[in-house]
Amino acid sequence: VLEPPSNDNERNDHSSVALAAALIRAGRVVAFPTETVYGLGADATNEAAVKRVFEAKGRPSDNPLIVHVSSLDMLSTHLLPQNTPIPSQYSNVLASHWPGPLTILLPKSDAVPPVVTAGHDSVAVRMPSHPVARALIAKANVPIAAPSANTSTRPSPTQASHVHQDLSGRILLILDGGSCEGGLESTVLDALRPPPYVVLRPGGVTVEMLRKLDGFKDTLVFKKTKENETSSEVLAPVTPGMKYKHYSPRIPVILFEVDQSVLHSTIQTRILRLHAEKSKPSSTLTPHQSSSTPAPETLTIGLLQTETQMPLDFSLTTDTLTHPRIRIIHRLLGSSRAEVGRNLFAALREMETECHVCFVEGVREVEEGLAVMNRVRKAAGEIVYDSK
Ligand code: TXA
Ligand code: MG
Repeated sequence: VLEPPSNDNERNDHSSVALAAALIRAGRVVAFPTETVYGLGADATNEAAVKRVFEAKGRPSDNPLIVHVSSLDMLSTHLLPQNTPIPSQYSNVLASHWPGPLTILLPKSDAVPPVVTAGHDSVAVRMPSHPVARALIAKANVPIAAPSANTSTRPSPTQASHVHQDLSGRILLILDGGSCEGGLESTVLDALRPPPYVVLRPGGVTVEMLRKLDGFKDTLVFKKTKENETSSEVLAPVTPGMKYKHYSPRIPVILFEVDQSVLHSTIQTRILRLHAEKSKPSSTLTPHQSSSTPAPETLTIGLLQTETQMPLDFSLTTDTLTHPRIRIIHRLLGSSRAEVGRNLFAALREMETECHVCFVEGVREVEEGLAVMNRVRKAAGEIVYDSK
């Protein structure tokens, strides 16, 4: 792992990006920071290199990759069919949100190896705003195909150390750019279909932002919940990533989508149930092994709080419960939904080393909350809804 770029160390900074770019040009994979999450990149024009990305992550080959560019020139030269401009419906969104956390579907040139798009005739493209990502792509002078730099099914990495946890020994280099500012992956937008256009994956560019733009007022979001299974907002799965297990730490995650007024009592009920389970000799509640793995006689519950800004207090209950004892580790993820998004994946990774099980409080599904809940629902093995 190379040192993070710092202003007083510019020479070093340049040489680490140059080394990463040389590796990309040589057909190897390299992890790099973006403003959303860390990416695991390879030369998008080199089929063998792209295959190495799928291998390193253990990613199913039918889940296509996002291709990252540093300029519109690079996009036209390598990705679009010859003499084809970017479809005009994207003009507004690109003017407002590129470079940035927005991925768009585009028609693809035959020169893009099918392994990148998993055989689809569109290619997903993004121009990141992170200076290290931009410098790397520009220096390599080829578009870089990059999924998130986690092992398939794990929470996406928002720090270089997360990439190291998952991929150490499988890749040659991680460029360390510190913590990612966004923390959740880019918004994936499909405006190749006839309007209304569709957000295939919610992300940093919110649907509210998109709907403000000319031509995007009626933009739909792909969404699948119990309540709207039959509503017109539900579309067939159009983005292959949807069907896979995602964002999951190695411990069970339980999401509480309940009203604030009953949150405390609902969580308390669940603590008591877990306590009863843990007391049984056949208990399967075991945390991921690590140096700080809790003692077997303690039940450690992680509680990621979002909208309640005061730590919920269960001490009265837990003090009275011995054999096993209960310990609760609280994290307040942030005071805005954007901040919750920024901290979510790192918190899930932290909890898995210390806890038997992790509770997450839901957030309102507006603005950045839509992307947060999309990720948490996929991470959760169980969702507790209001009983009313
Ligand atoms: O923020 C991000 O987007 C990060 C950073 C590294 O840029 N990348 C990322 O890539 O999240 P990945 O591979 O984890 O997610 C790519 C998503 C998947 O849901 C995939 O199914 C979808 O984009 N996708 C890629 N190409 C597509 C295509 N041609 N048509 C439809 N969906 C596509
Ligand atoms: Mg991913």
